[in-house]
Amino acid sequence: MAKENLFLCMGSACHQMGVYDVLPKLQALIKDHGLADTIELKGSFCLETCSQGIVMKFQDQRFAKISPQNVDTVFTENILPAVRAATAHTP
Ligand code: FES
Repeated sequence: MAKENLFLCMGSACHQMGVYDVLPKLQALIKDHGLADTIELKGSFCLETCSQGIVMKFQDQRFAKISPQNVDTVFTENILPAVRAATAHTP
């Protein structure tokens, strides 16, 4: 099965808001939730919602207002259900 891409904005605004502190936490979360074979974390150019905090994108869904402090919560409450829903049909 092909992995689904999970994009993390690496644009300059998101960079200033601490994306390089978010990145290792995301990598750990993906591993901890057993998603290493399901999703591929990729850097993205500016997603054009720079004023909304660090932004992530999964398929057609966007997750904004991410910070190094809340990334665990956003991942567990918002991104994880989206990923699980998108990959649920596969055995
Ligand atoms: S730099 Fe991240 S949305 Fe623009």
